[in-house]
Amino acid sequence: MQGSTLFKAYKGFQGLNRNLYLCAMAGNTFGEIFRLTSFGESHGKAIGGIVDGCPAGLPISEDFIQKQLNRRKPGQSRITTQRKESDDLEILSGVFEGMSLGTPIGFILKNKDAKSKDYDHLKSAYRPSHADFTYQVKYGIRDHRGGGRSSARETACRVVGGAIAMQILESLGLRVRAYVSSVGTVKISDRKLDLTKIDDSIVRCPDPETAERMIDSIEKARKEGNTLGGVIKCLIERVPAGWGEPVFDRIEADLAKAMMSINAVKGFSIGSGFSGASMKGSDHNDIFDSEDGNIRTITNHSGGVQGGITNGMDIHFSVAFKPVATLLRKQKSVNPEGEKIELEGRGRHDPCVVPRAVPIVESMASLVLVDHYLRNRSAKLNP
Ligand SMILES: Cc1cc2nc3c(=O)[nH]c(=O)nc-3n(C[C@H](O)[C@H](O)[C@H](O)COP(=O)(O)O)c2cc1C
Repeated sequence: MQGSTLFKAYKGFQGLNRNLYLCAMAGNTFGEIFRLTSFGESHGKAIGGIVDGCPAGLPISEDFIQKQLNRRKPGQSRITTQRKESDDLEILSGVFEGMSLGTPIGFILKNKDAKSKDYDHLKSAYRPSHADFTYQVKYGIRDHRGGGRSSARETACRVVGGAIAMQILESLGLRVRAYVSSVGTVKISDRKLDLTKIDDSIVRCPDPETAERMIDSIEKARKEGNTLGGVIKCLIERVPAGWGEPVFDRIEADLAKAMMSINAVKGFSIGSGFSGASMKGSDHNDIFDSEDGNIRTITNHSGGVQGGITNGMDIHFSVAFKPVATLLRKQKSVNPEGEKIELEGRGRHDPCVVPRAVPIVESMASLVLVDHYLRNRSAKLNP
């Protein structure tokens, strides 16, 4: 649709919605049995959520949840936004003497370092490729401060839910790890990686030499008032065969939804992904093998999933993040009246979000896996 047509459509909607700010905001809950609901805006009093469907009797380590939050929090290094949020976790319910009660787990994280004045200019401007325009069209009202609900501040709630889910997975022997595999044009090579080194560098790339080049390119982009995108790879090890609900809730479909629901994500691929499209079947097929009666495959182009169900091999997928929208330089845009304006770049922003998004990817993957573990328990009468 052309810009002007888009604007007319918006004005039409605005007319219909006048004095009617009653539209409910759906889409804030994720999962079928293990469910996370999140609430909050970037500069409101707090963000938080409810994890419902967590089975009773899980020892819950708040230290582990806090560790994951610290990996996501702003201000953690020189290559992230300088907003300082301690993101101290407060669990309000559902946990007693360190153990889940089976009741809803409520939690909040207070917003302490909101500098809302820095965002006044966004009351009357739409940032190109951000969510200002679309939120305004949809609701007829928006909290412009720090991006409101569209801010990735919300993803801290996913990290809390995901860290609880990850503790269930770890008790079952699974391991979920993500790392940065590219930033802009700087890419990690395919040689064997030591994934214990992910957090050795502030960019969360396990190859030290590539990590340094990534950091340099982020610092250069920041100096230019620009942003960079990148790719995160995720590996889930020791997944039992048999998880996933064909046909609409294939496990890769749920992973795709989980990843595509993260702010700034523009691509998801599992296993051979798009590169599989140019291979021959004879090269792509994962040939079965067995060792001591255990069936496995020699290659893993399927990414650990066949027919929407895990096959017992590692799940591996990639998530592509765009260069985020807010540039600390002037850009052309429009105001809500449709007049052309020049937008200033102000506020505190990430020059590249991928290092902070690593725990978010791990968290969303864990939410999907735990949900499918619980759903699979009703798959057949005889185990
Ligand atoms: C960890 C993280 C931090 C982010 N920080 C910023 C930021 O500082 N500035 C910005 O413009 N967008 C940032 N984003 C992206 C926006 O939240 C996102 O682009 C916006 O909500 C519009 O959604 P879309 O890009 O998915 O269409 C961040 C995303 C993530 C995952």
